[in-house]
Amino acid sequence: MKVLITGKNGQLGSELQRSCPDNIEIQCFDSQSLDITDIAVVNEILISFSPDIVINTAAYTAVDKAESDIDAAYAVNQTGAANLATACKAISAKLIHISTDFVFDGSKTTPYVSADATNPLGVYGASKLAGEQAVSRILGSQATIVRTAWVYSKFGKNFVKTMLRLMAEKDQLGIVYDQVGTPTWAAGLANMLWALVQKQSDKVGAESKTLNQTKILNWTDAGVASWYDFAVAIQELAIEQGLLNKAIPISAIPASSYPTPAKRPEFSVLNKTEAEALTSVKTIHWRKQLKSMLEQVKAEKVKVESDK
Ligand SMILES: NC(=O)c1ccc[n+]([C@@H]2O[C@H](COP(=O)([O-])OP(=O)(O)OC[C@H]3O[C@@H](n4cnc5c(N)ncnc54)[C@H](OP(=O)(O)O)[C@@H]3O)[C@@H](O)[C@H]2O)c1
Repeated sequence: MKVLITGKNGQLGSELQRSCPDNIEIQCFDSQSLDITDIAVVNEILISFSPDIVINTAAYTAVDKAESDIDAAYAVNQTGAANLATACKAISAKLIHISTDFVFDGSKTTPYVSADATNPLGVYGASKLAGEQAVSRILGSQATIVRTAWVYSKFGKNFVKTMLRLMAEKDQLGIVYDQVGTPTWAAGLANMLWALVQKQSDKVGAESKTLNQTKILNWTDAGVASWYDFAVAIQELAIEQGLLNKAIPISAIPASSYPTPAKRPEFSVLNKTEAEALTSVKTIHWRKQLKSMLEQVKAEKVKVESDK
């Protein structure tokens, strides 16, 4: 089976390459070699590689910057997704398109299921939702959308690496307690996606084929945390691993004390039952996944210093 991966230098794109099963041939592209906003390039590359499945990890992911960079966010997250879907349709390839918890407004108090009403709070979420809608419209049951949240990895920039750096540099930190979700190790997400790919050759989409509907799945690690809980766990586990040599005080602050250009959902826990049943992959508690990631950071001496 041949799988084409977009966004190869991102967190998820990197983890997918690292964990690719032996029976799958992959071709991976960065934004230079495959700019998904360019339909001519997208068509040319998909026709020449002729993949069975495309995994679209490419996205405009700068949530705050998107508020003032609206056209760029929509170009990648909506038009780029639509371009891939159109090219997939032309060569009869399936598309696994990655999306986000930010399509929801966070007003629920129980885990979101895929059928819940969407209502993005900002440009990033709205542009990702527009991408989902384009993919569904163009490909129907030939596409699967996987919504995830709070992604981190040893690759790229993310909350864990930022915390490790700040905890080494600062005397104290204030972290938001009134936004709740589930941290997600990109390696675990990649593992589930490869299981989904293996299923794609036969089952995925089969049950919804008669309705020609796109299946929407959720995937994060297991459990629930606030950003404050996550930060406390990062510090505790990093000290245990010897990645930090002292604990600094971490205080729980309301989101209102840490204003950001983009509003974020207060509650974005996702229900993963359907993805677990479909792939036979079980979610693992976020704290256990965090420990595994920090072990990698230590073993591989991953750089977490400031990029400045
Ligand atoms: N990170 C999170 O917390 C989070 C949460 C929920 C959902 N998601 C979703 O999960 C997916 C993977 O996220 P991630 O964390 O791996 O993202 P990431 O690390 O920011 O990587 C995104 C990748 O997309 C590439 N890209 C941007 N514009 C492109 C274009 N026009 N053509 C081709 N590639 C382009 C970027 O390449 P360059 O670096 O070269 O620009 C980058 O390598 C995305 O769909 C994202 O929306 C992420």
